[in-house]
Amino acid sequence: MTLKISSFLYICLVSLLLTTVLALSLTNSPNRRDAIQRIILATPIATALTQATQPALAYTPDPDPLRESLYLMSRVQEATVQQERFVNKATEQDVLKNKMKLTLRLVEKNYRLLDQITFAAEYVTPTSALVDATTAGFESAEALQNAIDYVKSDLKSGPFEKDQKEYITSNLTECRERLFDFLSYMPPDKLQAARKRVEEENVANRDEFDGDSDAGVYNPVVLPWKNR
Ligand SMILES: *[C@@H]1O[C@H](CO)[C@@H](O)[C@H](O)[C@H]1NC(C)=O
Repeated sequence: MTLKISSFLYICLVSLLLTTVLALSLTNSPNRRDAIQRIILATPIATALTQATQPALAYTPDPDPLRESLYLMSRVQEATVQQERFVNKATEQDVLKNKMKLTLRLVEKNYRLLDQITFAAEYVTPTSALVDATTAGFESAEALQNAIDYVKSDLKSGPFEKDQKEYITSNLTECRERLFDFLSYMPPDKLQAARKRVEEENVANRDEFDGDSDAGVYNPVVLPWKNR
């Protein structure tokens, strides 16, 4: 019922907005363009409409919440491989920190590994493995958080030392491997579908980059489940 009323209101408001814009565009006021723009900028509905016309920029989650969660976990695994590549090439702490910061923030905010583990734990099979599975999942999230914290607070300036490299690498590997353990208790068909989505999106991104002058910038990693 609430939904029906709000849809109705939405339609009324959109009609009102369009009528106003149309009326203004028909007047001969020299400032009518400004006026139209002001209305459009000031109206949240217009924002919604603008967003609706740009589907390519919007993130569309999988309608199946478990598959979505498995997709995000697979993206975390991919990210650990990408980050390890940075770590292996690094020679200066501050350069590495800058490179890792952006991706790690994305991983933290968008993939929310701990939330995914908590959510997907409901689907662990067999249920007798619940403790093993969630332990693996939480250790994975902990290792990732540890790597993030290390990059944030222990990387400073000066040469990137061997023990630092070993530390971050071991946390990233631990995150990925413990996540594999957790994922082994997930429905295989959904996991496969989630991984396929990662693969397909990467191919689509690569094709997009091929026509771009910055093509060399895009350098995907071998997805970790590919060589197991
Ligand atoms: C991070 O790596 C260090 C060094 O190998 C290890 O001692 C520590 O237990 C790891 N932390 C987590 C949470 O895996």
